[in-house]
Amino acid sequence: MNEKIISFLKKADGYFSGEQISKALRISRTAVWKHIKQLKQEGYNIEAVSRRGYRLISAPDKLLPSEIKNGLQAKIFGQKIVYFDTVGSTMDEASVLGFQNEMEGTLVCAESQTKGRGRLGRTWISSKGKGIYFSLILRPVIPVAEAAKLTLLFAISVCQAIRKSTGINAMIKWPNDIMVGKKKISGILTELNAEMDRINFVIVGLGVNVNETKSVLLKSATSIYQEIGKKFSRAVLLKEILEKSEENYLLFQKKGFSPIASQWRSLSDTLGRRVKVDETKKTTEGEAVDIDTDGGLLIRKDDGVVIKKISGDVIHLR
Ligand code: BTN
Repeated sequence: MNEKIISFLKKADGYFSGEQISKALRISRTAVWKHIKQLKQEGYNIEAVSRRGYRLISAPDKLLPSEIKNGLQAKIFGQKIVYFDTVGSTMDEASVLGFQNEMEGTLVCAESQTKGRGRLGRTWISSKGKGIYFSLILRPVIPVAEAAKLTLLFAISVCQAIRKSTGINAMIKWPNDIMVGKKKISGILTELNAEMDRINFVIVGLGVNVNETKSVLLKSATSIYQEIGKKFSRAVLLKEILEKSEENYLLFQKKGFSPIASQWRSLSDTLGRRVKVDETKKTTEGEAVDIDTDGGLLIRKDDGVVIKKISGDVIHLR
């Protein structure tokens, strides 16, 4: 209901009376007043003038469901949003919901995480109110072995959303790092709950550096603020990401991996480069020549033999 009231107030050209809102939303005027009170507590600045009604003066810079749902074009992703001010990791919260059969597209997002995690056991620094930190529940009907394709699908979606909304020339470092030049701006973590032959649910976790200043970023990282020199709305970018990733997810369901793979190739910063892949016990060097039908990276070693990597850390050598 809060979302509906905010959407009303955002559309209004001036004041909206309690009576108009109560009629349109079929709730009592007391209920309207209670929702307005809640919205004010969340940080909305709403002016109330007797005999004229309510007027929205400003919205908080938060990833509140009412902010994300306002104007969101996606039909599945973000239809249900679970919001936290501070949480351990959105991955864990989403996983609990996954086990409780929560529907596909449910989004868990937070202003900050105390135990944000990345790939290969790394930490994801999650400064309060600066970045986007979310986990999305998916229930794809695909074999377990194909789950890695989803990581690539989200990598292209995030890359496209950043390019479209900010104009930054983001590219993908295999498999799922979103880079601007040599610096990382966003990362994706895919976790799976599956039986031998069936995926129960997938959690796609995404971290994007949006308004972080240099002082809180690692040397190897950048943010949208650092790239464009001004603050950017996290809610606007998050909506674009949800819309793009839903569009690509539906395309994947309809047409398979091939259109996703070709978009990935055109956004890749890895293909054509000399790379080194570090795995726990060995290191491989060679030229990254393509991605395979399952999303694995094909590397031509110096002896001409082409091998496939399905996981690991890629270092661009030149
Ligand atoms: C990586 O690049 O290693 C992946 C980083 C993924 C970070 C996001 S932030 C939201 C979600 N919650 C987590 O704990 N991790 C992911």
